[in-house]
Order: sequence, then C-alpha cells, then structure tokens
Amino acid sequence: MTYPNNDSRSAQLFARGQMVMPGGNSRTGVMFEPYPIYAARAEGCRVTDVDGETRIDCINNWSSLIHGHGNPAVLGALAKQSHELLAVGMPTEVEIDLASLLVDRLPGVEKIRFSNSGSEAVLMALRAARAFTGRDVIAKCEGAYHGSADSVEISVAPSPKTWGPEEAPTSVPATQGIPLSVQRDTLVLPFNDVIATRNLIEQHATSLAAVIVDPVVSRIGFVEATPEYLIMLREITTAYGIVLIFDEVFSYRIGFHGAQGRVGVTPDITALGKVIGGGLPVGATGGLAEIMEVFNQTAKPLRVEHGGTYNANPMTMAAGLACMEQMTPAAYAHLEELGERLRTGLRGELARAGYRGQVGGVASLVAMIFNDAPFLNYREMPLRHREGAMIYTLHRYLLNHGVQIIPHGLMVLSTAMSTSDIDEILHAVRGGLAALAKDFPPDAV
Ligand SMILES: Cc1ncc(COP(=O)(O)O)c(C=O)c1O
Repeated sequence: MTYPNNDSRSAQLFARGQMVMPGGNSRTGVMFEPYPIYAARAEGCRVTDVDGETRIDCINNWSSLIHGHGNPAVLGALAKQSHELLAVGMPTEVEIDLASLLVDRLPGVEKIRFSNSGSEAVLMALRAARAFTGRDVIAKCEGAYHGSADSVEISVAPSPKTWGPEEAPTSVPATQGIPLSVQRDTLVLPFNDVIATRNLIEQHATSLAAVIVDPVVSRIGFVEATPEYLIMLREITTAYGIVLIFDEVFSYRIGFHGAQGRVGVTPDITALGKVIGGGLPVGATGGLAEIMEVFNQTAKPLRVEHGGTYNANPMTMAAGLACMEQMTPAAYAHLEELGERLRTGLRGELARAGYRGQVGGVASLVAMIFNDAPFLNYREMPLRHREGAMIYTLHRYLLNHGVQIIPHGLMVLSTAMSTSDIDEILHAVRGGLAALAKDFPPDAV
C-alpha cells in the first residue's frame, strides 16, 4: 500500500491514537508527516507494518537493536527468564553477569549501576558528578542530544537567532519547561572547537562538576569528536578536577571497547543504554570506582540515592547479556564491513545521480547528507531548506520501496543484515535518487 494513504490502517490508528494521546503516541521521535507507520511484527532485519508492508529496518529502534529483531539467543534468554522470574524486589545474579561483562569491556568502567533508559543513565551520571565534586554547573556541546534530563535539554538544536556567539554559545532551552536556574547552570561548548572550549572550561572551572560529551553526535550527522578535542577535554578536566562523562548511549555500538576504546580516551563516567538491554528498556551509569562510590548504599551516610522499581530487572538483564555475549570482535567486524559497504555504495549512488552530497558515520552508523560542504559541528552542518526537503522526499520514496530509515537521513545497521541486504538498500536509494530528479534537479557536479 502506497504511503501516505488515508484508508491505511496506520492512518486510522494515528487518528485513534490522537483521541487519547497528544500527538497520537508517546514518543516524539517516531512522528513524521502526515502520519507515522504503525508496526505489527518483525524478524531479522525486516519490519512488517499493520497494512502488511515489509521493509528493511535501518532504524533498529534508534540503534538499540544491534542484532535486529527476534534474535534467537535473546528470545531464548527471555523465554527462560520469563518462566523463572519477571520482576522482583530483590537483586539477581544475572545483573552481576551483565555488569561484569561491561566492566570487562569498557576501559572507563570499574563499577556500574543499571537503570531503565539512557536519559536516566545520563541523569545519574550528572548527579554523581555533582555529588563527587560538590559543584553545580554541567558543560555540554551545542547540537548534542543526551536524553530528557533538564540539565542537558539545552542547545540541542538552537536556531541562529538564539545561539549567540560562536566561541561562547548561549545556553538555549531545547523545550519549554526547563527552569531558568537549570539553563544558567548549563555551560554550552562549541563542539570540536579546541581553543574556544578550553577557554570556556577555564573560565568556569571552579564551578564545573562535569563535561559531558558524545564521541559520535547523532543529531549532527554522526559527526565524530576529533582526537584533539577529546584529548583536550581529558587533559583540562583532569587538571581542574572536573568529571569527564562520555555519553555512549548511542555510540557504544561502534566498538568492542565502546567509543572510548575506539578513540583511545578514557572518561571518568560512561552513560550507557540502548544495545546493552538487548531490545528491552535499559540504562547504565558506570565509571571509576572512586566516583561510583557515591551510590554505595552500604556506606553511611549514603551520598546519592539511586532507586528504581525496574532497575536491573531480570528480563532486561537476561536479554542484555544474551545480546552482548554475541557482540564478539567478529560481530563488530561484520557491522564495520556492512557500514563501509553502505557508505561507499551511497557515495557512488550520489555521484552516479549527479548530486553533491556526503556520507558520514562510523561502523554501523551511517548518515547521508545532500551537501558536500565539510563540517565538524552543529553550526557548520550544511542543512538548508532544500536539503531537508530532499531527504524528506527520499525518505518517503524509500518507505514505498521496502526500506525505512531515520527520516533525516540516518541509518543504523544490525548484525541481522547481510551484504545482500545492503545492496537492496542501495538499489532502493538508486531508484529514490532518480525519482528525486523530478523535483530537485541534480547539481551540476
Ligand atoms: C546520546 C544519547 N544519550 C541519551 C539518550 C537517551 O536515551 P533514552 O532514549 O533511552 O532515554 C539518547 C537517545 O537517543 C542518545 O542518543
């Protein structure tokens, strides 16, 4: 069934959902105009919607499904666990198993605690840093998304009207409902600008509890932090006793030892989520034992209360363990190969169709942008109206030709994919670029 279609079951469900939920559902990111497509079931790398259309899934629940859908080992672990124990007001052994795996793999994680979302993982990372340092201010990079905690819902996608000077960006709330006091306690850093960032941190050093950075920023076309930038952050935070937090909720999937292993810079705290839950809701905050000690509930007085009815619930722990045990170096190499094939192929398709563009990303994360101007941060990102409209049109074409991508041009791969699935995606993109030429004539390259 061609999308959009007012007679579709998805359109009907959206209308029904809107009667009981503002916006029709509970998640901003799943919305696109004129209505989101409703999922019915999935297997491997393909999702079937409520109208019976099946597409290759290049969203993978915004990166959480590293093995795609219905991974047999994850399903097996869940089935076993569900018969033994769903949830319980006691700790379980499987929590220690997953904690041990993550502590073994992540250089910056000596101790870890679980929660239920990446947002909570970041929230507890910030709270631990504040408790540990006795300071209030948090520094984050302009254009980076770190979930829903107030302190980081700042300058996620500010407009040129509000973003202020390049070397000292204004702290702009990303949503209504952020208190002015929180806005004042968040310092915004220009991503990948070594000199300006160092100056800002030095100016605020005595009030800064933490600097939080995502080594691969999804909202800026998976642009990577440069090695110089991360090394500078590591040096300056150490010098001033500021906690360096890596938000690897999205980017942990790029390597066996995480993004930190790949870039060779070790943070004090790491926020995790998504893949480590094997498809179930999860978050985790891990770090140096000395800092994580703030959560030690056997110590008196307890410094940071960290409760949560579903923290480390056995179903999530079992799914996460089964998922992560399969993430061997060979599995990462497979994802790397798929990502490279897709990036190279997309570059070829853009050139073939005569469009200027670039394809970025790292490992299993791929971003396609209809503009070839190089960029290293949010302000430089070449997203004008025309490019946005082109990616929107391509997204819609792909929906009608068996592929779903994140609407603004991001693709997230899974181990359930093979090279032939990648070639199928490329074939659909080739058709999409040809169709695009009608409304957006190719650039004279
Ligand atoms: C880098 C980053 N941090 C934090 C979060 C929040 O995670 P969650 O959606 O599980 O709350 C996300 C979500 O996409 C993310 O990409």
